[in-house]
Parts: sequence; C-alpha cells; structure tokens
Amino acid sequence: MLDPYRDGVLRKAGWLFGFVAVLTLPGCSEAGSGTEGPGSSDRSAILVAHRGASAYAPEHTLASYELGIEQGADYIEPDLQITSDGVLIAFHDLTLERTTDVEDVFPDRFQEVEIRGEMTRVWPVNDFTFDEIRRLDAGSWFDPAFVGARIPSFGEVVEVARGRVGLFIETKAPEVYGERGFDMEAQLLTELADLGLGEPGADPETPVIIQSFSAASLELMHDEHGTRLPLALLVGSGDAALEWLSTEGLVRAAEFVTGIGPAKDLLLEDPTVVQRAHELGLAVVPWTFRARRPGDDFTTVESEMTHFLERLGVDGIITDNPDLFPR
Ligand code: G3P
Ligand code: CA
Repeated sequence: MLDPYRDGVLRKAGWLFGFVAVLTLPGCSEAGSGTEGPGSSDRSAILVAHRGASAYAPEHTLASYELGIEQGADYIEPDLQITSDGVLIAFHDLTLERTTDVEDVFPDRFQEVEIRGEMTRVWPVNDFTFDEIRRLDAGSWFDPAFVGARIPSFGEVVEVARGRVGLFIETKAPEVYGERGFDMEAQLLTELADLGLGEPGADPETPVIIQSFSAASLELMHDEHGTRLPLALLVGSGDAALEWLSTEGLVRAAEFVTGIGPAKDLLLEDPTVVQRAHELGLAVVPWTFRARRPGDDFTTVESEMTHFLERLGVDGIITDNPDLFPR
C-alpha cells in the first residue's frame, strides 16, 4: 500500500521523464489517469539528493544516502566509477585522493599527471581492486564523526534505495573507462536488469533515471542497448555543451533523452530554455543547489530553489541540502 506522498512521487516520476508504464501499475491507481503533463495542475517537482545529503554527510557514502532518504528525497544520486576488477562503485571523482585516505593506505600507488601546468600525484579509482578500495576511509575527510565510512558498490546503493527512494544514476566519464576496456553502459544496464530494475516501473517504489554529461553514452544506451529507462542529458559550461540548449540542440536531444539537467546558472542566463524544453516534452532538472553557496542573486538556497521552481518552472531540483527543499 502506497502512502499519498509516495504515490505522488511515482506520479511525478512518470510524468517527468516520459514513461507511462509506472502510472498503470498496481498500487498506482490514483496516478493512473495518464493526464499528467506540462501544464497539468497537479504536477510537482522532484527532489534529488545530490551525492546523498552531501551537505551533512560525506558524499556517496551509505550514511549520506540514508540521510537524503530521511530528509524526504524522491531520488538519491549515485555517480559511477569502475574498479580495476570491474566493480561499479558510487564515487564522484576519477581519482581517490580528495575524499579518502588513499595517500596513507597506498602511498606508492600514485600516478603523476600534469594538472594546470603542475605535476600532481593522483590515485586513479581504476588502478585499485574493489577489495583495496574497501580498505579506504571515505568519511574522515568530511568530519571525524564519519571515520570508517566505506565507498559503496553500486549494488549496495540499490539495496539502500530499494522500496524507499528512486535512483538518479550518473555515468561518470564512460569514455575513460571505455579506453581501459570497460563498458560502463552495458554493465550498468545489465546490473539494473539483474536487480529487477531494468524496465520503467519494474519497481514502482524505486524508479530509475540515468543521467550523463556524455551525450554519446546516453545515445548508446538508447539506440544500441535499447533501454526504455528515462535518460537525462547533463549540460555544463563550454560552447559545445551550450549548443544542447539551443532549440536545435533540444530537438536533437529529444531523440534519445526524456530530460535535461543544466547547470542552474544557465537557466538564469536564458530562462526560455525551460519552456522550449517542455514544448519538446523534455523535463528540466537543474543542479546543484547548496546552502553554503547560494547563487549570486539569492540570500538563501531556499529562496533560490523557490525561484527555480515557481518562476522558472523547473521539474526538479538537485541539491546537497534536501531538508531545505521548499515542499
Ligand atoms: O546531477 C548533476 C550533477 O551531479 C552533476 O555534477 O559534478 O556533482 O556530478 P557533479
Ligand atoms: Ca553527479
């Protein structure tokens, strides 16, 4: 039996990302009218806990995801990386040193690379097995209270989410992993299928959306793998990225995604993006809203989120502070 709030989440997920199957599943009868859509009076926005509730707990740890769920998120947001032995893990960076104690545990396992003109030591995720990565402390960098927090496998994140919250999964740098002989897209879709989440509405209480900055990655999943899961194209800075927000770009994106995720400032610079995307049936879910650094025009992140939801008409918010989302 679904509670009204959860039922609302399902309705939102179904409308937002264009999959209607979930709307007709048992337990979703209230949401099954199929009338939701742009302009619908009862649509409401989704809340995505960015890297979990990452303002309050170390990003991409189970503690952070748990807190995001407690704070009322509709979705948690795992970024994906791949270990040397082929395990999908939830982790943001391609390298381990920013958010773990890898430099202490594996002091000799670095690579030297040039970053902004300086030779820098980095510890790439993909140079370590999953067992090795499990030895790392991914909590202390954030706060001593989280000492011993581990980097979770993607499978563990799914188990935390199952039946409680949706998954807003990001394929990170899939091309980099492709060069190393891994196929992130195929692996993700296979794991989701094996976990019973490979189809829209497979588990109505655990909806799945896949996002990426890589249009090629999303196109591959849509065209080659034929996934019917909703897909969202992330848009950051740079001329090539910005082209996706032109009307021609949006038309092109709508061939393989059901939503876009622009950096929030891009929508302030051109608020017409939201309406132009909606006219093409694309949901718009910007990122990243942070209490510690609201946008220049806002005194609080609550007022910033309210502006995006009520004035700009976005369909969701990706935030480090799920508790501050204006319900
Ligand atoms: O969901 C969008 C957002 O997560 C993209 O930025 O760098 O935090 O993964 P990043
Ligand atoms: Ca992300």
